[in-house]
Amino acid sequence: MKLYSLLLLLISITFVASFSKELEKEFKAYVKKFNKKYKNKFEENRAKKFFKKCLNEINETNKKNLGFTLAPSVFCDQDPKTFHKGESLSVPAPPLSLGRAVSFVDPSIYPPGPPSVDWTTSGCISRVKDESFYCGACYAFSAIAALEAHWCLKNNISVTMSEQMIIDCTNKYYGNKACEGGSQGASWTYIQNIADGIESDETYPYNEFNESIAKTFQPCKYNRSRSVATVIGYSRIRSNNPELIKNAIAAVGPVAASMNGAIPSFAYYDTGVYSDPACIPSMSHSVLIVGYGVDDSVDPPMPYWLCKNSWSSDWGGMQGYFKIQRGVNMCGIENQLVYPIVPDAASYKAKKRIG
Ligand SMILES: *[C@@H]1O[C@H](CO)[C@@H](O)[C@H](O)[C@H]1NC(C)=O
Ligand SMILES: *[C@@H]1O[C@H](CO)[C@@H](O)[C@H](O)[C@H]1NC(C)=O
Ligand SMILES: *[C@@H]1O[C@H](CO)[C@@H](O)[C@H](O)[C@H]1NC(C)=O
Ligand SMILES: *[C@@H]1O[C@H](CO)[C@@H](O)[C@H](O)[C@H]1NC(C)=O
Repeated sequence: MKLYSLLLLLISITFVASFSKELEKEFKAYVKKFNKKYKNKFEENRAKKFFKKCLNEINETNKKNLGFTLAPSVFCDQDPKTFHKGESLSVPAPPLSLGRAVSFVDPSIYPPGPPSVDWTTSGCISRVKDESFYCGACYAFSAIAALEAHWCLKNNISVTMSEQMIIDCTNKYYGNKACEGGSQGASWTYIQNIADGIESDETYPYNEFNESIAKTFQPCKYNRSRSVATVIGYSRIRSNNPELIKNAIAAVGPVAASMNGAIPSFAYYDTGVYSDPACIPSMSHSVLIVGYGVDDSVDPPMPYWLCKNSWSSDWGGMQGYFKIQRGVNMCGIENQLVYPIVPDAASYKAKKRIG
């Protein structure tokens, strides 16, 4: 144990010696920009080690002119192996039969969508949220982001809903595991079958920014009389059919998707259309696809999905959004597409009063 600590100390001393003045300056600016705080010198040196690695990765990738660029993101001082660790446990969606009105979307169901769609201009996409480094609840953020959008598109009511409620209340159901992964389908099925509702962010706020809290299961504090919306089913779009996904997004609105989010080049994404051949389809992260198009600034022009992430609006160079190559199942993003079906707000309100 002692020997091990000594070894670590030696390594960190050796390492600091190799941290140039220039790097030191860049690190200082980085710490300031993201308001980073380290508990002690050891933590700081650890952060510096990863920061240096991160800059190298950025440098190497940007040199390749892949059509996207990287920059030091909020994750640049962290071990790439631990990015949102819980999300590597992303679980499959529950059987479709669990929901009351779940359907598989037939490939021919939607008319061809226009060349580009951007739902962010609809006024129905809520602010970019932050799941926090300590909590792998991307599934809850993806499910809620989709629900907020569909509730608003259907009812013209814009309200932000509670991911914390999903984390606290669904962990006994359908395979969801609080801060250690889950699925959008399980979250909607819980809202539909068990809670018959979801509270707002305001009455049930997010509190996973504290590491020790994020490691603990918190009791479910749901109160149905405070519910602001609900779900009456969800649809799953057939995998690996980019044309169908595109048409569905144009016809119904944003669609929740899962992808590989555990690779450094994605964690440091800045601008452009993300497309790294190393990003194999292994589901570890969930997002919301809010549109699509073709980026002409890339040569040759590259089709993309426009996605809303949940790593704060400080992540990347697009206020928390990113573009990812469309049509090639980049990072597996064309594998698991689902969207919620929502009722008329007036009928839900009437039913709530009776029920
Ligand atoms: C990036 O690479 C260039 C040349 O390839 C080099 O001059 C520069 O020092 C590198 N920067 C970092 C931060 O590694
Ligand atoms: C949606 O709501 C806004 C304000 O809440 C209102 O100004 C607008 O007219 C509504 N749109 C429709 C289509 O009802
Ligand atoms: C995190 O929460 C615990 C338990 O409530 C508390 O004791 C601790 O001070 C909190 N840490 C921070 C950094 O707020
Ligand atoms: C549930 O919420 C309502 C409305 O905010 C409140 O009046 C009621 O006391 C709450 N019930 C419980 C058990 O907290």
